[in-house]
Amino acid sequence: MTDDQPRGLARGLTNYGDPDFSVYLRRSFAASMGYSREVLKKPIVGIANSFSGFNNCHRHFPEMVEAVKRGVLLGGGLPLEFPTISLGEVFLSPTSLKFRNLMSIDTEEMIRAQPMDAVVLMGGCDKTVPAQLMGAASADLPAVQLVAGPMMTSRHEGERLGACTDCRRFWGKYRATEISAEQIAAIEGKLATTAGTCAVMGTASTMACIAETLGMTLPGTAAIPAVHADRLRAAEASGMAAARMIQNPIRPSEIITEKSVENALRVLLAIGGSTNAIIHLTAIAGRLGIRVSLERFNQLSDETPVLVNLKPVGQGYMEDFFFAGGVGAVLRELKPLLHLDCMTVTGETLGERLAAETGPVDRAIIASASEPLEPEGGLVALFGNLAPRGAILKRSAADRNLFEKEGRAVVFTSLEDLSNRIDSPDLDVTEDDILVLQNAGPRSASGMPEAGYLPIPKRLAAKGLKDMIRISDARMSGTAFGTIVLHVAPEASVGGPLALVRDGDRIRLSVKEKTISLLVPDEELEARRRALSDPAPAPRRGYDRLYAEEVLQADEGCDFAFCQPLAAAAGEEAE
Ligand code: FES
Repeated sequence: MTDDQPRGLARGLTNYGDPDFSVYLRRSFAASMGYSREVLKKPIVGIANSFSGFNNCHRHFPEMVEAVKRGVLLGGGLPLEFPTISLGEVFLSPTSLKFRNLMSIDTEEMIRAQPMDAVVLMGGCDKTVPAQLMGAASADLPAVQLVAGPMMTSRHEGERLGACTDCRRFWGKYRATEISAEQIAAIEGKLATTAGTCAVMGTASTMACIAETLGMTLPGTAAIPAVHADRLRAAEASGMAAARMIQNPIRPSEIITEKSVENALRVLLAIGGSTNAIIHLTAIAGRLGIRVSLERFNQLSDETPVLVNLKPVGQGYMEDFFFAGGVGAVLRELKPLLHLDCMTVTGETLGERLAAETGPVDRAIIASASEPLEPEGGLVALFGNLAPRGAILKRSAADRNLFEKEGRAVVFTSLEDLSNRIDSPDLDVTEDDILVLQNAGPRSASGMPEAGYLPIPKRLAAKGLKDMIRISDARMSGTAFGTIVLHVAPEASVGGPLALVRDGDRIRLSVKEKTISLLVPDEELEARRRALSDPAPAPRRGYDRLYAEEVLQADEGCDFAFCQPLAAAAGEEAE
Protein backbone atom coordinates (compact mmCIF):
# COMPACT_ATOMS: atom_id res chain seq x y z
CA MET A 1 0.00 0.00 0.00
CA THR A 2 1.40 3.39 -0.87
CA ASP A 3 0.57 6.13 1.56
CA ASP A 4 0.62 9.68 0.28
CA GLN A 5 -1.60 11.01 3.05
CA PRO A 6 -0.49 13.94 5.23
CA ARG A 7 0.79 13.13 8.71
CA GLY A 8 -1.02 13.44 12.00
CA LEU A 9 -4.34 15.12 12.51
CA ALA A 10 -4.70 16.15 8.86
CA ARG A 11 -4.79 12.51 7.79
CA GLY A 12 -7.98 10.89 6.51
CA LEU A 13 -10.23 13.92 6.85
CA THR A 14 -13.91 13.84 7.68
CA ASN A 15 -15.66 14.64 4.44
CA TYR A 16 -17.45 17.99 4.50
CA GLY A 17 -16.52 18.86 0.89
CA ASP A 18 -14.03 21.47 2.20
CA PRO A 19 -10.72 19.98 3.41
CA ASP A 20 -9.50 23.18 5.09
CA PHE A 21 -12.72 23.38 7.08
CA SER A 22 -12.27 19.71 8.09
CA VAL A 23 -8.76 20.38 9.45
CA TYR A 24 -9.88 23.55 11.23
CA LEU A 25 -12.82 21.78 12.84
CA ARG A 26 -10.75 18.77 13.84
CA ARG A 27 -8.06 20.96 15.45
CA SER A 28 -10.72 22.92 17.26
CA PHE A 29 -12.35 19.79 18.68
CA ALA A 30 -8.97 18.24 19.58
CA ALA A 31 -8.15 21.47 21.42
CA SER A 32 -11.22 20.85 23.55
CA MET A 33 -9.33 17.82 24.92
CA GLY A 34 -6.57 20.16 26.09
CA TYR A 35 -4.05 19.67 23.26
CA SER A 36 -2.00 22.68 22.21
CA ARG A 37 -1.54 23.57 18.55
CA GLU A 38 2.13 22.58 18.85
CA VAL A 39 1.28 19.08 20.03
CA LEU A 40 -1.31 18.65 17.31
CA LYS A 41 1.43 19.07 14.67
CA LYS A 42 3.04 15.80 15.82
CA PRO A 43 2.58 12.52 14.00
CA ILE A 44 0.06 10.33 15.80
CA VAL A 45 0.46 6.85 17.19
CA GLY A 46 -2.89 5.21 17.85
CA ILE A 47 -3.06 2.72 20.69
CA ALA A 48 -5.69 0.02 20.16
CA ASN A 49 -6.58 -0.83 23.74
CA SER A 50 -8.63 -3.96 24.32
CA PHE A 51 -9.11 -3.39 28.04
CA SER A 52 -12.49 -4.56 29.32
CA GLY A 53 -14.16 -5.30 32.61
CA PHE A 54 -15.08 -8.62 30.99
CA ASN A 55 -11.46 -9.57 30.36
CA ASN A 56 -9.41 -10.62 33.40
CA CYS A 57 -6.35 -11.24 31.20
CA HIS A 58 -6.18 -7.51 30.32
CA ARG A 59 -6.68 -6.28 33.90
CA HIS A 60 -3.32 -4.47 33.88
CA PHE A 61 -3.83 -2.58 30.61
CA PRO A 62 -4.52 0.78 32.31
CA GLU A 63 -0.97 0.70 33.71
CA MET A 64 0.52 -0.64 30.48
CA VAL A 65 -1.13 1.97 28.31
CA GLU A 66 0.53 4.75 30.33
CA ALA A 67 3.91 3.17 29.57
CA VAL A 68 3.06 2.94 25.87
CA LYS A 69 2.11 6.63 25.82
CA ARG A 70 5.39 7.55 27.52
CA GLY A 71 7.26 5.65 24.83
CA VAL A 72 5.35 7.35 22.01
CA LEU A 73 6.14 10.78 23.47
CA LEU A 74 9.81 9.85 23.81
CA GLY A 75 9.76 8.77 20.16
CA GLY A 76 8.38 12.15 19.07
CA GLY A 77 4.75 11.17 18.46
CA LEU A 78 1.40 12.04 19.97
CA PRO A 79 -0.21 8.97 21.58
CA LEU A 80 -3.97 8.67 21.18
CA GLU A 81 -5.62 5.67 22.77
CA PHE A 82 -8.80 4.19 21.36
CA PRO A 83 -10.95 1.28 22.53
CA THR A 84 -11.81 -1.76 20.50
CA ILE A 85 -13.84 -4.84 21.22
CA SER A 86 -12.19 -7.08 23.78
CA LEU A 87 -12.57 -10.86 23.87
CA GLY A 88 -12.29 -12.35 27.35
CA GLU A 89 -12.13 -16.05 26.58
CA VAL A 90 -14.37 -17.47 29.29
CA PHE A 91 -16.89 -14.63 29.36
CA LEU A 92 -18.19 -15.02 25.81
CA SER A 93 -21.06 -17.09 24.52
CA PRO A 94 -21.25 -19.27 22.56
CA THR A 95 -17.48 -19.07 21.99
CA SER A 96 -14.87 -16.36 21.53
CA LEU A 97 -13.86 -17.51 18.03
CA LYS A 98 -17.19 -16.27 16.73
CA PHE A 99 -16.18 -12.71 17.63
CA ARG A 100 -12.54 -12.80 16.48
CA ASN A 101 -13.51 -11.65 12.99
CA LEU A 102 -15.71 -8.91 14.45
CA MET A 103 -12.77 -7.63 16.51
CA SER A 104 -10.50 -7.81 13.47
CA ILE A 105 -12.96 -5.69 11.47
CA ASP A 106 -13.30 -3.24 14.37
CA THR A 107 -9.50 -2.96 14.62
CA GLU A 108 -8.98 -2.58 10.87
CA GLU A 109 -11.69 0.01 10.39
CA MET A 110 -10.74 2.13 13.41
CA ILE A 111 -7.11 2.14 12.23
CA ARG A 112 -8.29 3.23 8.78
CA ALA A 113 -10.95 5.72 9.87
CA GLN A 114 -9.03 7.66 12.52
CA PRO A 115 -6.03 9.91 11.84
CA MET A 116 -3.00 7.89 12.91
CA ASP A 117 0.40 7.25 11.32
CA ALA A 118 1.25 4.08 13.23
CA VAL A 119 -0.47 1.93 15.81
CA VAL A 120 0.35 -0.12 18.90
CA LEU A 121 -1.96 -3.12 19.28
CA MET A 122 -2.59 -4.09 22.90
CA GLY A 123 -4.01 -7.60 23.13
CA GLY A 124 -3.34 -10.88 24.85
CA CYS A 125 -6.27 -13.16 25.58
CA ASP A 126 -6.62 -15.98 23.03
CA LYS A 127 -8.49 -14.40 20.13
CA THR A 128 -7.40 -10.79 20.63
CA VAL A 129 -3.90 -11.04 19.19
CA PRO A 130 -4.99 -12.85 16.01
CA ALA A 131 -7.88 -10.40 15.63
CA GLN A 132 -5.51 -7.44 15.95
CA LEU A 133 -2.95 -8.92 13.57
CA MET A 134 -5.69 -9.71 11.02
CA GLY A 135 -7.00 -6.15 11.26
CA ALA A 136 -3.54 -4.60 11.13
CA ALA A 137 -2.57 -6.76 8.15
CA SER A 138 -5.63 -5.55 6.25
CA ALA A 139 -5.17 -1.88 7.25
CA ASP A 140 -1.42 -2.20 6.47
CA LEU A 141 -0.37 0.77 8.58
CA PRO A 142 2.93 0.43 10.52
CA ALA A 143 1.96 -1.54 13.63
CA VAL A 144 3.62 -2.99 16.73
CA GLN A 145 1.90 -5.78 18.62
CA LEU A 146 2.20 -5.59 22.40
CA VAL A 147 0.93 -8.61 24.29
CA ALA A 148 -0.46 -8.80 27.82
CA GLY A 149 2.08 -11.36 29.00
CA PRO A 150 1.29 -14.51 30.98
CA MET A 151 -0.08 -14.89 34.51
CA MET A 152 2.15 -16.06 37.33
CA THR A 153 1.52 -19.43 38.92
CA SER A 154 -0.01 -20.02 42.33
CA ARG A 155 0.17 -22.78 45.00
CA HIS A 156 -2.33 -25.21 46.48
CA GLU A 157 -1.23 -27.51 49.31
CA GLY A 158 2.37 -27.23 48.17
CA GLU A 159 1.53 -27.92 44.52
CA ARG A 160 2.12 -25.36 41.77
CA LEU A 161 -1.01 -24.31 39.87
CA GLY A 162 -1.61 -22.28 36.72
CA ALA A 163 -4.51 -21.66 34.39
CA CYS A 164 -5.64 -23.50 32.59
CA THR A 165 -4.14 -26.96 32.16
CA ASP A 166 -4.50 -27.41 35.90
CA CYS A 167 -8.14 -26.18 35.69
CA ARG A 168 -8.86 -29.18 33.47
CA ARG A 169 -6.66 -31.62 35.39
CA PHE A 170 -8.44 -30.92 38.67
CA TRP A 171 -11.86 -30.88 37.02
CA GLY A 172 -11.06 -34.33 35.60
CA LYS A 173 -10.15 -35.51 39.12
CA TYR A 174 -13.38 -34.06 40.49
CA ARG A 175 -15.41 -35.84 37.78
CA ALA A 176 -13.61 -39.07 38.63
CA THR A 177 -14.52 -38.43 42.34
CA GLU A 178 -10.82 -38.34 43.24
CA ILE A 179 -11.27 -34.96 44.96
CA SER A 180 -14.21 -33.51 46.90
CA ALA A 181 -16.51 -30.54 46.24
CA GLU A 182 -14.71 -28.63 49.02
CA GLN A 183 -11.33 -29.27 47.42
CA ILE A 184 -12.42 -28.18 43.94
CA ALA A 185 -13.92 -25.01 45.47
CA ALA A 186 -10.59 -24.21 47.15
CA ILE A 187 -8.69 -24.85 43.91
CA GLU A 188 -11.09 -22.62 41.95
CA GLY A 189 -9.81 -19.59 43.86
CA LYS A 190 -6.16 -20.37 43.16
CA LEU A 191 -6.00 -21.14 39.44
CA ALA A 192 -5.82 -17.57 38.09
CA THR A 193 -4.38 -15.18 40.64
CA THR A 194 -2.64 -12.40 38.69
CA ALA A 195 -3.29 -10.26 35.64
CA GLY A 196 -2.19 -11.73 32.33
CA THR A 197 -2.98 -14.59 30.00
CA CYS A 198 -3.13 -18.29 30.86
CA ALA A 199 0.10 -19.46 32.46
CA VAL A 200 0.84 -22.37 30.12
CA MET A 201 1.58 -22.74 26.40
CA GLY A 202 -2.09 -22.33 25.53
CA THR A 203 -3.49 -20.31 22.66
CA ALA A 204 -2.64 -16.89 24.10
CA SER A 205 0.99 -17.80 24.79
CA THR A 206 1.29 -19.56 21.44
CA MET A 207 -0.06 -16.52 19.60
CA ALA A 208 2.34 -14.25 21.53
CA CYS A 209 5.26 -16.47 20.41
CA ILE A 210 3.92 -16.46 16.84
CA ALA A 211 3.57 -12.66 16.82
CA GLU A 212 7.19 -12.34 17.97
CA THR A 213 8.38 -14.88 15.39
CA LEU A 214 6.51 -13.09 12.61
CA GLY A 215 8.41 -9.95 13.62
CA MET A 216 5.31 -8.00 14.72
CA THR A 217 6.40 -7.54 18.38
CA LEU A 218 9.65 -6.23 19.76
CA PRO A 219 12.16 -9.04 20.25
CA GLY A 220 12.04 -10.82 23.59
CA THR A 221 8.64 -9.49 24.63
CA ALA A 222 6.27 -12.46 24.08
CA ALA A 223 6.91 -14.27 27.34
CA ILE A 224 7.51 -11.45 29.85
CA PRO A 225 5.07 -12.08 32.73
CA ALA A 226 2.21 -9.59 32.90
CA VAL A 227 3.18 -8.36 36.35
CA HIS A 228 6.94 -8.07 35.74
CA ALA A 229 8.49 -4.60 35.44
CA ASP A 230 9.98 -5.71 32.12
CA ARG A 231 6.41 -5.84 30.77
CA LEU A 232 6.05 -2.10 31.41
CA ARG A 233 9.47 -1.47 29.89
CA ALA A 234 8.36 -3.48 26.84
CA ALA A 235 5.23 -1.33 26.65
CA GLU A 236 7.31 1.84 26.73
CA ALA A 237 9.70 0.48 24.10
CA SER A 238 6.78 -0.60 21.88
CA GLY A 239 5.35 2.93 21.98
CA MET A 240 8.72 4.37 21.08
CA ALA A 241 9.25 1.85 18.27
CA ALA A 242 5.85 2.68 16.77
CA ALA A 243 6.63 6.41 16.85
CA ARG A 244 10.00 5.82 15.20
CA MET A 245 8.43 3.68 12.48
CA ILE A 246 6.64 6.75 11.20
CA GLN A 247 9.93 8.07 9.78
CA ASN A 248 10.81 4.72 8.21
CA PRO A 249 7.52 2.98 7.71
CA ILE A 250 7.59 -0.81 7.72
CA ARG A 251 4.16 -2.18 6.99
CA PRO A 252 2.66 -5.47 8.17
CA SER A 253 2.66 -6.64 4.52
CA GLU A 254 6.47 -6.34 4.54
CA ILE A 255 6.73 -8.34 7.77
CA ILE A 256 4.02 -10.99 7.40
CA THR A 257 5.22 -12.85 4.32
CA GLU A 258 5.20 -16.43 3.10
CA LYS A 259 8.63 -16.88 4.70
CA SER A 260 7.79 -15.37 8.08
CA VAL A 261 4.56 -17.39 8.20
CA GLU A 262 6.60 -20.54 7.61
CA ASN A 263 8.96 -19.48 10.43
CA ALA A 264 5.91 -19.02 12.66
CA LEU A 265 4.65 -22.52 11.77
CA ARG A 266 8.07 -23.92 12.73
CA VAL A 267 7.95 -22.17 16.09
CA LEU A 268 4.37 -23.34 16.65
CA LEU A 269 5.61 -26.90 16.17
CA ALA A 270 8.74 -26.48 18.28
CA ILE A 271 6.90 -25.01 21.26
CA GLY A 272 4.19 -27.70 21.15
CA GLY A 273 1.74 -24.84 20.69
CA SER A 274 -2.02 -24.67 20.52
CA THR A 275 -4.07 -26.26 17.74
CA ASN A 276 -6.05 -23.02 17.57
CA ALA A 277 -2.95 -21.21 16.36
CA ILE A 278 -3.13 -23.01 13.00
CA ILE A 279 -6.56 -21.50 12.40
CA HIS A 280 -5.40 -18.05 13.52
CA LEU A 281 -2.15 -18.04 11.56
CA THR A 282 -4.05 -19.20 8.47
CA ALA A 283 -6.46 -16.29 8.92
CA ILE A 284 -3.69 -13.71 9.51
CA ALA A 285 -1.74 -14.93 6.47
CA GLY A 286 -4.96 -15.06 4.44
CA ARG A 287 -5.46 -11.32 4.97
CA LEU A 288 -2.34 -10.82 2.86
CA GLY A 289 -3.19 -13.47 0.28
CA ILE A 290 -0.80 -16.06 1.76
CA ARG A 291 -2.15 -19.62 1.89
CA VAL A 292 -1.16 -22.01 4.67
CA SER A 293 -1.14 -25.52 3.23
CA LEU A 294 -1.72 -28.39 5.66
CA GLU A 295 0.35 -30.66 3.40
CA ARG A 296 3.30 -28.27 3.77
CA PHE A 297 2.53 -28.05 7.48
CA ASN A 298 3.04 -31.83 7.73
CA GLN A 299 6.40 -31.57 5.97
CA LEU A 300 7.48 -28.90 8.45
CA SER A 301 6.17 -31.03 11.32
CA ASP A 302 8.27 -34.00 10.23
CA GLU A 303 11.49 -31.96 10.35
CA THR A 304 10.90 -29.59 13.27
CA PRO A 305 11.73 -30.89 16.76
CA VAL A 306 9.74 -30.14 19.93
CA LEU A 307 12.00 -28.06 22.16
CA VAL A 308 9.83 -26.51 24.85
CA ASN A 309 8.88 -28.33 28.02
CA LEU A 310 5.75 -26.46 29.12
CA LYS A 311 2.26 -27.57 30.06
CA PRO A 312 -0.03 -28.82 28.63
CA VAL A 313 2.55 -31.04 26.88
CA GLY A 314 5.41 -30.85 29.38
CA GLN A 315 6.07 -29.61 32.90
CA GLY A 316 6.83 -25.89 33.09
CA TYR A 317 4.82 -22.66 32.96
CA MET A 318 5.27 -19.49 30.92
CA GLU A 319 7.21 -17.71 33.68
CA ASP A 320 9.77 -20.57 33.46
CA PHE A 321 9.90 -20.08 29.69
CA PHE A 322 10.62 -16.37 30.15
CA PHE A 323 13.48 -17.01 32.58
CA ALA A 324 14.75 -19.90 30.42
CA GLY A 325 15.39 -17.59 27.46
CA GLY A 326 11.98 -17.17 25.81
CA VAL A 327 11.26 -17.11 22.09
CA GLY A 328 14.78 -15.88 21.26
CA ALA A 329 16.31 -19.07 22.66
CA VAL A 330 13.93 -21.22 20.60
CA LEU A 331 14.65 -19.22 17.45
CA ARG A 332 18.40 -19.64 17.96
CA GLU A 333 17.98 -23.42 18.16
CA LEU A 334 15.86 -23.45 15.02
CA LYS A 335 18.13 -21.04 13.13
CA PRO A 336 19.25 -23.48 10.41
CA LEU A 337 15.59 -24.14 9.57
CA LEU A 338 14.44 -20.50 9.50
CA HIS A 339 14.24 -17.87 6.79
CA LEU A 340 16.58 -15.29 8.31
CA ASP A 341 15.96 -12.48 5.81
CA CYS A 342 12.48 -11.72 7.22
CA MET A 343 11.92 -8.11 8.28
CA THR A 344 10.74 -7.16 11.79
CA VAL A 345 9.16 -4.06 13.34
CA THR A 346 12.57 -2.85 14.54
CA GLY A 347 13.88 -2.61 10.97
CA GLU A 348 16.25 -5.51 11.65
CA THR A 349 15.94 -8.83 9.88
CA LEU A 350 15.41 -11.96 11.94
CA GLY A 351 18.98 -12.98 11.13
CA GLU A 352 20.34 -9.66 12.42
CA ARG A 353 18.26 -10.03 15.57
CA LEU A 354 19.55 -13.51 16.28
CA ALA A 355 23.17 -12.60 15.53
CA ALA A 356 22.98 -9.97 18.26
CA GLU A 357 21.41 -12.26 20.88
CA THR A 358 23.17 -14.47 23.36
CA GLY A 359 22.40 -15.49 26.91
CA PRO A 360 22.07 -18.53 29.11
CA VAL A 361 19.32 -21.02 28.32
CA ASP A 362 17.68 -23.26 30.92
CA ARG A 363 17.80 -26.63 29.16
CA ALA A 364 15.19 -28.08 31.51
CA ILE A 365 12.65 -25.82 29.78
CA ILE A 366 14.13 -25.14 26.31
CA ALA A 367 15.97 -28.14 24.87
CA SER A 368 18.72 -27.85 22.30
CA ALA A 369 18.03 -28.90 18.72
CA SER A 370 20.66 -31.61 19.12
CA GLU A 371 18.83 -33.12 22.11
CA PRO A 372 15.17 -32.27 21.50
CA LEU A 373 12.24 -33.42 23.61
CA GLU A 374 10.73 -34.98 20.48
CA PRO A 375 12.39 -35.30 17.08
CA GLU A 376 9.27 -34.15 15.22
CA GLY A 377 6.68 -31.42 15.63
CA GLY A 378 3.89 -31.35 18.19
CA LEU A 379 1.03 -31.02 15.69
CA VAL A 380 0.08 -32.99 12.63
CA ALA A 381 -2.63 -32.70 9.97
CA LEU A 382 -4.64 -35.84 9.16
CA PHE A 383 -6.41 -36.56 5.90
CA GLY A 384 -8.74 -39.32 4.73
CA ASN A 385 -12.33 -39.96 3.76
CA LEU A 386 -13.46 -38.62 7.14
CA ALA A 387 -11.57 -35.33 6.68
CA PRO A 388 -10.93 -34.67 2.97
CA ARG A 389 -9.75 -31.11 3.69
CA GLY A 390 -7.85 -32.08 6.81
CA ALA A 391 -8.09 -32.38 10.56
CA ILE A 392 -5.57 -31.60 13.30
CA LEU A 393 -4.11 -33.77 16.06
CA LYS A 394 -1.81 -32.44 18.75
CA ARG A 395 0.31 -35.56 18.88
CA SER A 396 2.59 -34.13 21.57
CA ALA A 397 -0.43 -33.92 23.92
CA ALA A 398 -1.85 -37.33 22.92
CA ASP A 399 -1.38 -40.90 24.16
CA ARG A 400 1.05 -42.74 21.86
CA ASN A 401 -0.71 -46.02 22.61
CA LEU A 402 -3.71 -44.70 20.67
CA PHE A 403 -1.75 -43.53 17.60
CA GLU A 404 -2.47 -46.62 15.48
CA LYS A 405 -5.93 -47.74 16.43
CA GLU A 406 -9.22 -48.90 15.00
CA GLY A 407 -12.37 -48.56 17.09
CA ARG A 408 -16.14 -48.44 17.15
CA ALA A 409 -17.78 -45.02 16.82
CA VAL A 410 -20.00 -43.67 19.58
CA VAL A 411 -21.70 -40.69 17.97
CA PHE A 412 -23.13 -37.49 19.48
CA THR A 413 -25.04 -35.42 16.97
CA SER A 414 -24.70 -32.07 18.76
CA LEU A 415 -23.32 -30.45 21.89
CA GLU A 416 -26.74 -30.79 23.47
CA ASP A 417 -26.81 -34.51 22.69
CA LEU A 418 -23.32 -34.80 24.16
CA SER A 419 -24.20 -33.13 27.44
CA ASN A 420 -27.46 -35.11 27.71
CA ARG A 421 -25.91 -38.56 27.25
CA ILE A 422 -22.16 -38.57 27.96
CA ASP A 423 -22.59 -39.46 31.63
CA SER A 424 -25.66 -41.65 31.20
CA PRO A 425 -25.22 -45.06 32.84
CA ASP A 426 -26.99 -46.48 29.75
CA LEU A 427 -24.43 -45.16 27.26
CA ASP A 428 -23.03 -48.09 25.29
CA VAL A 429 -19.33 -47.23 25.43
CA THR A 430 -16.05 -48.98 26.23
CA GLU A 431 -12.53 -47.65 26.54
CA ASP A 432 -11.70 -49.01 23.06
CA ASP A 433 -14.40 -46.93 21.39
CA ILE A 434 -13.96 -43.63 19.54
CA LEU A 435 -16.15 -40.72 20.59
CA VAL A 436 -17.46 -38.62 17.68
CA LEU A 437 -19.07 -35.19 18.00
CA GLN A 438 -20.94 -33.79 14.97
CA ASN A 439 -22.29 -30.32 14.19
CA ALA A 440 -19.86 -28.27 16.26
CA GLY A 441 -17.97 -26.66 13.36
CA PRO A 442 -17.73 -23.01 12.30
CA ARG A 443 -21.13 -22.83 10.55
CA SER A 444 -23.01 -24.72 13.27
CA ALA A 445 -25.14 -22.82 15.73
CA SER A 446 -22.44 -23.34 18.34
CA GLY A 447 -19.82 -21.53 16.22
CA MET A 448 -16.96 -24.06 16.62
CA PRO A 449 -16.49 -23.99 20.38
CA GLU A 450 -13.62 -25.54 22.31
CA ALA A 451 -15.71 -28.64 22.83
CA GLY A 452 -13.43 -31.10 21.02
CA TYR A 453 -12.05 -32.16 24.39
CA LEU A 454 -15.08 -34.39 24.94
CA PRO A 455 -15.23 -35.51 28.56
CA ILE A 456 -14.39 -39.13 29.26
CA PRO A 457 -17.77 -40.75 30.07
CA LYS A 458 -18.12 -40.67 33.85
CA ARG A 459 -18.45 -44.43 34.07
CA LEU A 460 -15.04 -44.90 32.37
CA ALA A 461 -13.43 -41.94 34.16
CA ALA A 462 -14.41 -43.44 37.51
CA LYS A 463 -12.50 -46.59 36.50
CA GLY A 464 -9.40 -44.46 35.96
CA LEU A 465 -9.52 -44.03 32.14
CA LYS A 466 -7.66 -40.83 31.28
CA ASP A 467 -7.74 -40.75 27.47
CA MET A 468 -9.56 -42.14 24.45
CA ILE A 469 -9.75 -41.06 20.79
CA ARG A 470 -12.19 -38.22 20.26
CA ILE A 471 -13.07 -36.73 16.85
CA SER A 472 -15.02 -33.58 16.01
CA ASP A 473 -15.29 -30.51 13.83
CA ALA A 474 -14.90 -28.39 16.99
CA ARG A 475 -11.74 -26.87 18.46
CA MET A 476 -9.86 -27.59 21.68
CA SER A 477 -8.45 -25.19 24.22
CA GLY A 478 -4.72 -24.72 23.86
CA THR A 479 -4.41 -25.72 27.49
CA ALA A 480 -6.07 -29.13 27.00
CA PHE A 481 -4.56 -32.53 26.23
CA GLY A 482 -5.57 -35.97 24.95
CA THR A 483 -5.84 -37.96 21.72
CA ILE A 484 -8.20 -35.51 20.14
CA VAL A 485 -8.81 -35.06 16.42
CA LEU A 486 -10.10 -31.55 15.73
CA HIS A 487 -11.10 -29.10 13.00
CA VAL A 488 -12.46 -31.86 10.73
CA ALA A 489 -13.11 -30.17 7.38
CA PRO A 490 -15.52 -29.89 5.80
CA GLU A 491 -17.64 -29.79 8.94
CA ALA A 492 -20.79 -31.87 9.50
CA SER A 493 -23.13 -28.86 9.28
CA VAL A 494 -22.25 -28.30 5.63
CA GLY A 495 -22.54 -31.99 4.78
CA GLY A 496 -18.94 -33.07 5.40
CA PRO A 497 -18.35 -36.81 5.81
CA LEU A 498 -18.35 -36.41 9.59
CA ALA A 499 -22.13 -36.02 9.26
CA LEU A 500 -22.33 -39.56 7.84
CA VAL A 501 -20.83 -41.41 10.83
CA ARG A 502 -23.25 -43.66 12.71
CA ASP A 503 -23.00 -45.52 16.02
CA GLY A 504 -21.08 -48.74 15.56
CA ASP A 505 -19.13 -47.69 12.44
CA ARG A 506 -15.44 -48.56 12.47
CA ILE A 507 -12.97 -45.68 12.36
CA ARG A 508 -9.20 -45.96 11.97
CA LEU A 509 -6.61 -43.45 13.15
CA SER A 510 -3.05 -43.76 11.90
CA VAL A 511 -0.70 -41.03 13.05
CA LYS A 512 2.14 -42.73 11.19
CA GLU A 513 0.23 -42.48 7.91
CA LYS A 514 -1.43 -39.19 8.94
CA THR A 515 -4.88 -40.56 8.13
CA ILE A 516 -8.30 -40.65 9.69
CA SER A 517 -10.62 -43.09 7.92
CA LEU A 518 -14.25 -44.08 8.17
CA LEU A 519 -14.29 -47.81 7.34
CA VAL A 520 -17.66 -47.84 5.64
CA PRO A 521 -18.11 -48.72 1.92
CA ASP A 522 -18.49 -45.77 -0.43
CA GLU A 523 -21.92 -46.95 -1.63
CA GLU A 524 -23.22 -47.01 1.93
CA LEU A 525 -21.84 -43.52 2.58
CA GLU A 526 -23.47 -42.30 -0.62
CA ALA A 527 -26.82 -43.77 0.48
CA ARG A 528 -26.46 -42.05 3.85
CA ARG A 529 -25.62 -38.79 2.15
CA ARG A 530 -28.77 -39.00 0.02
CA ALA A 531 -30.81 -39.70 3.14
CA LEU A 532 -29.40 -36.73 5.03
CA SER A 533 -32.27 -34.46 5.84
CA ASP A 534 -31.68 -30.84 5.05
CA PRO A 535 -33.58 -29.06 7.80
CA ALA A 536 -34.66 -25.53 7.08
CA PRO A 537 -32.01 -23.31 8.66
CA ALA A 538 -33.07 -21.59 11.85
CA PRO A 539 -33.75 -17.90 11.23
CA ARG A 540 -30.69 -15.84 12.15
CA ARG A 541 -30.14 -12.11 12.14
CA GLY A 542 -27.44 -9.50 12.70
CA TYR A 543 -23.86 -10.57 13.24
CA ASP A 544 -24.98 -14.13 13.94
CA ARG A 545 -26.38 -14.31 10.40
CA LEU A 546 -23.36 -12.65 8.82
CA TYR A 547 -21.13 -15.15 10.60
CA ALA A 548 -23.16 -18.19 9.57
CA GLU A 549 -23.26 -17.07 5.95
CA GLU A 550 -19.70 -15.90 5.53
CA VAL A 551 -17.41 -17.90 7.81
CA LEU A 552 -14.92 -20.10 5.99
CA GLN A 553 -13.95 -23.63 7.02
CA ALA A 554 -11.16 -24.41 9.50
CA ASP A 555 -8.56 -25.09 6.81
CA GLU A 556 -9.16 -21.54 5.56
CA GLY A 557 -8.76 -19.98 9.00
CA CYS A 558 -12.47 -19.41 9.74
CA ASP A 559 -12.12 -15.88 8.39
CA PHE A 560 -14.81 -14.14 6.35
CA ALA A 561 -14.25 -14.49 2.63
CA PHE A 562 -15.08 -10.81 2.13
CA CYS A 563 -12.24 -9.79 4.49
CA GLN A 564 -9.60 -11.43 2.34
CA PRO A 565 -7.75 -9.43 -0.32
CA LEU A 566 -9.94 -8.49 -3.26
CA ALA A 567 -8.36 -11.02 -5.63
CA ALA A 568 -8.96 -13.90 -3.20
CA ALA A 569 -12.50 -12.77 -2.40
CA ALA A 570 -13.27 -12.48 -6.11
CA GLY A 571 -11.94 -16.01 -6.67
CA GLU A 572 -14.17 -17.29 -3.88
CA GLU A 573 -17.23 -15.76 -5.50
CA ALA A 574 -16.30 -17.15 -8.89
CA GLU A 575 -16.19 -20.75 -7.57
FE1 FES B 1 -7.40 -15.22 28.58
FE2 FES B 1 -6.72 -17.93 28.94
S1 FES B 1 -8.55 -16.83 29.52
S2 FES B 1 -5.67 -16.35 27.90
